[in-house]
Amino acid sequence: MRFVALVGNPKPGSRTLTVASAAAEAIALAAGIDEGYEIIDLSVLSRQLLLPEPSMAVEDATELVTRADLLLVASPTFKGTYTGLLKVFLDRLPYRGLDGTAALPLLVMASPQHALAVDVHLRPLLVELGATVPTPGLAVLESELGRLDGVLRPWANRVARLLRDPLALAGLQPEQAAALPA
Ligand SMILES: Cc1cc2nc3c(=O)[nH]c(=O)nc-3n(C[C@H](O)[C@H](O)[C@H](O)COP(=O)(O)O)c2cc1C
Repeated sequence: MRFVALVGNPKPGSRTLTVASAAAEAIALAAGIDEGYEIIDLSVLSRQLLLPEPSMAVEDATELVTRADLLLVASPTFKGTYTGLLKVFLDRLPYRGLDGTAALPLLVMASPQHALAVDVHLRPLLVELGATVPTPGLAVLESELGRLDGVLRPWANRVARLLRDPLALAGLQPEQAAALPA
């Protein structure tokens, strides 16, 4: 079971990175993913992503993402959507590059007015790439960062429940669904 957390903040050491790590931990615990997860922090790839020359680090990250069985995609909310950096990275994936991946969208934001952006903007991007998105996305408000556990745990439990639901994973091939935790 390959579980990857992708973080689309251009700023190194961001709160979004902290939230994504905590969310991945909570999901691995709730879903019994003993192998844990790998994290891809796009802030360290931001320069390479904007250059025309191929970069081994970007290729490696792209391969990790396309081969993931479960992919958490976390971004700060910028201008009511996600970051340009996340889009620049995802634009490099092949057509339906997330076919066979269960994706979990997460946005960190300042304003509750943009809470729906996670399902209105980030979810369709992942679906366009071929991912199955079994749960509602998670919007984490800056004001909730001090009580992250209380926000993440219910979502992680819901993710774990849905990962066991064949209907929720109907878009996956049987062998791909089988790779997810029982
Ligand atoms: C360029 C930019 C645009 C932003 N646009 C929004 C926005 O539209 N809605 C919102 O709720 N927060 C917006 N924010 C606030 C960030 O989403 C919020 O501060 C988030 O916590 C940043 O993540 P970080 O703490 O990991 O850097 C914006 C921040 C920046 C820098």
